[in-house]
This record gives sequence, C-alpha cells and structure tokens, in this order.
Amino acid sequence: MGGQTVYLNGEFTPIEEARIPVLDRGFIFGDGVYEVIPVYSGHPFRMTQHLVRLQKSLDAIKLVNPLSNAQWSGLVRKLVKMHPEWQDQGVYIQVTRGVARRDHAFPKEVIPTVFMMTNLLPLPDRKYVTEGVACVSATDNRWLRCDIKSTSLLGNVLMRQRAAEAGCVECIMFRDGFLSEASSSNVFVVKGKQIAAPPNNHLVLPGTTNDVVMELARKSRMPLVIREVSEDEVRAADEIWITSATKEVLAVTRLDDRPVGSGKPGPMYKRMFRLYQDYKRTVMRRG
Ligand code: PDD
Repeated sequence: MGGQTVYLNGEFTPIEEARIPVLDRGFIFGDGVYEVIPVYSGHPFRMTQHLVRLQKSLDAIKLVNPLSNAQWSGLVRKLVKMHPEWQDQGVYIQVTRGVARRDHAFPKEVIPTVFMMTNLLPLPDRKYVTEGVACVSATDNRWLRCDIKSTSLLGNVLMRQRAAEAGCVECIMFRDGFLSEASSSNVFVVKGKQIAAPPNNHLVLPGTTNDVVMELARKSRMPLVIREVSEDEVRAADEIWITSATKEVLAVTRLDDRPVGSGKPGPMYKRMFRLYQDYKRTVMRRG
C-alpha cells in the first residue's frame, strides 16, 4: 500500500514532498477558497454542485478559475483512484491567489496555487448516531460573507475549539438572536413534526449535505420550512440536527449542557437518518 499522494500545481506527489513557497497568499493572507467532496465507493457525490459552489467562491473573491470543470473532475477521479485502500474518501480542493510579494491588493499576473488531497471518509461514529452529540453555542462573530467557502477560517476554528474544550462536537452560532450555522456544519431544528432551517444567505455556507436532507424531507413529505429560526426556538426545540459532508446528519442531544428535547435522538431524526442511509446505499454509492 503506497503513501498518501496529493496534487499540487500540475503534479501528483507524495504528501511529504509537496511544498508551497512562504509567500503563497493562502499562507500569508488566507487568500483562497476550498471545497470538500465526499466520495462513496469511488463515486464523487454531487461533483457538479461542489464545482458550482467552488466557482461561486472563486467569483466572490475575484479569482479566475484555473481549471475547467472537466479538468477538476478528471483530477478528483484520478486522485481517488490512487487511494483504493479507502472505500469512502473526502477530497479536499484548495485554490489560492498564488505567490507574490506581500501586498494586500491583488498581484497582477500571478498564477493561482491549486492543491488537492484526499483522506479516508470514516462513517460517523456509531455512538454519535445512537446517542447523539453534545454542542455548545456562541454568538456568531465571524465576518459577513460566510457563504464563501474561504480558507480564512479563523472564526470557525475558534468556535470549533470552544466546542472541543467543552468536550463537544460542534459550536452552534447565533447572530442577532437568530440561528446561523455551526462551525463546520449546517443546523436544522424540529418542533413536533415541523422541520425548520435558516435560508441560504451571506450568513451561512450553502451546504451540500443539507440540500440532501431537505430533498429527502420533501420527498417523504416531512414538513419542512426554510425561514429565520430564533435562538429561543433552538433552545426549545424537540430535536436539533447538524449536517456536513463528513458528519452526514447527526442529532444534537445536549446543548450548553442541557438536554435537547428528550435528551435522545428523536423520532424525526431516526427517520431522516434511515432515509439518508438508504439514499447513500442506493444513490451515492452507485454514482
Ligand atoms: N465544512 N457550514 C460550514 C461553516 C462548513 O464548514 C461546512 C462544511 C458546512 C456543511 O457543508 P457541506 O454539507 O457541503 O459539507 C456548513 C467542511 C466539511 C469542512 O470545512 O471540512
């Protein structure tokens, strides 16, 4: 079994040998964007949607996409095939504005840095699925363009660390009294049989996993509304779910050390979890 191979600026190399210059603007300014694409049984899931989101992030930071979608897709597939030891993988793509003398303004005629790696995508921890996860909450003090999947993640990193220090999985954030998202996940709440989630706007990352959850809810006629969700509603919710490409859908059963609803994954979660697993088996794994 070989070591981990990554892609950097046109070449596949062992991860230990991949190097970027210290003046890369990704390193100096966090001037870059990224994507994480889940791959099930060798099939990248919703590659097109991920590439559309990548394009939106690049447009938002005024960086010309260095590759065509066909090139991206070809590289992702090639990298995945180089790691047959992992049945499911998470492909990470990063594009930065490239290497230039340090100046905040964009350099002229600079070549973007393109980096890709893939990692094992483990199934969510069994215990997290059966018992749910604990989260903390915080005031969302990140910038106002959370829709850009930017590598400038310090705000998210500090939130996630706050959760880690409390022995929790995620930090759920509120801005001006309303739910935004968690440090690296989107959030749903359930009251009775009604599922609610905040709209996609500049305050949240439009998640690809929450798209799946919304589609599955609609298909199986589980009532779902997209609207602003107040902090009070979150605290009084029967169920809270978090979603991301790497977490799938998990029930939050404790928030700030208090039980959510019954303190156990609720009936709506159990239903959604089953729908998600069925979808993964019948659609995601088949490509
Ligand atoms: N993060 N919101 C934030 C802030 C995120 O970082 C993520 C994902 C999501 C969920 O998006 P998706 O369903 O497309 O994964 C929402 C990835 C996994 C990461 O940064 O590793």
